[in-house]
Amino acid sequence: MKMAVFKPAFSLFSPLLLHFRRLEWFACLPALLILAMPAAAAEVNIYSNRQPFLIQPMLDKFTAETGIAVNSLFAEKGLTERVKAEGVNSPVDVLLTTDIARLKEAVEAGITQPVDSPALISAIPESLRDPAKNWFALTLRARVIYAANDRVKDGEVTTYEGLTAPKWKGRICSRSGNSDYNIALLASQIAHHGETEAAKWLMGVKANLARKPQGDDRAQIRAVAQGECDIALGNTYYMAVMLADPEQAEFARAVRIVFPNQPGTPFPSGTHVNVSGMAMAKHAPNREAAQKLMEFLASPEAQKMYATINNEYPARPGVEPSELLQSWGEFKSDELPLQEIAKFRKRALEIVYETGFDQ
Ligand SMILES: [Fe+2]
Repeated sequence: MKMAVFKPAFSLFSPLLLHFRRLEWFACLPALLILAMPAAAAEVNIYSNRQPFLIQPMLDKFTAETGIAVNSLFAEKGLTERVKAEGVNSPVDVLLTTDIARLKEAVEAGITQPVDSPALISAIPESLRDPAKNWFALTLRARVIYAANDRVKDGEVTTYEGLTAPKWKGRICSRSGNSDYNIALLASQIAHHGETEAAKWLMGVKANLARKPQGDDRAQIRAVAQGECDIALGNTYYMAVMLADPEQAEFARAVRIVFPNQPGTPFPSGTHVNVSGMAMAKHAPNREAAQKLMEFLASPEAQKMYATINNEYPARPGVEPSELLQSWGEFKSDELPLQEIAKFRKRALEIVYETGFDQ
């Protein structure tokens, strides 16, 4: 991209040289100073692996309220590596990402800095932020079971562990085992039952698959609706995304959400939840504006937007989920500390490969 706009230096500077010939050198000085100075307008740069349409409304609101422009760069993968490679010259101020493991990875890579903000501390519960103040959760998402309305009766599937039952043979769809969401779920299985049991569980799910793992969470809802399989795993907000899309709503309406591992089931540990969150970059050039943006994203106003626009569960207590999410009912979430999930992520990924889940 840079190569494409590169021009030889002489063509860029020739107008200046002309100036030098025509004018006294000091007459050019103000112009040269202006060229050398960075733009004075307040701005903040974010790197995000959240899809742009999910965060743009909040960023626009922030700009409208503060006059601070937000420049965002979206990349699904490799943001940590990118920031590391950019080093002290990195333009990024705030990192927005999903998955506790990604947040911890950024901290461990040394590309974040603590943010000492009473506003953030009071907004985000202790369990949803880094004790060292490097990252703060913004939203919660539950990984649930999608079940076909017409082929799966109430109470037929109630736990993640139950997905290995022989009655589901050839009836489960899944996205790739090494997607962040599935790795986090497997990591939580390791935390609850140990490595050996977790590997057995994954093999059991694999044995029940209707097809090779493929597609994203939305593709699983579609596959259930179209009868390729009867149950699948997915995050709650994808159901909302599809219900709001005229072309996909019919698929979503054929499928319902089951919150697994609720009280009264054989494994009442609670439904697995993960977070999306934010961190300030270590070399943030616009520190003050960056902190303002972070505090805005944790404000009741932005948290409400996350809830209504994205249909994610707000991290800030007291902000109600969207009506749609409320209609799905309350559920008990897994109380396992998120740090535990992050701790077993590497092992979970190895198990995915060892079991050949995607093959
Ligand atoms: Fe997602």
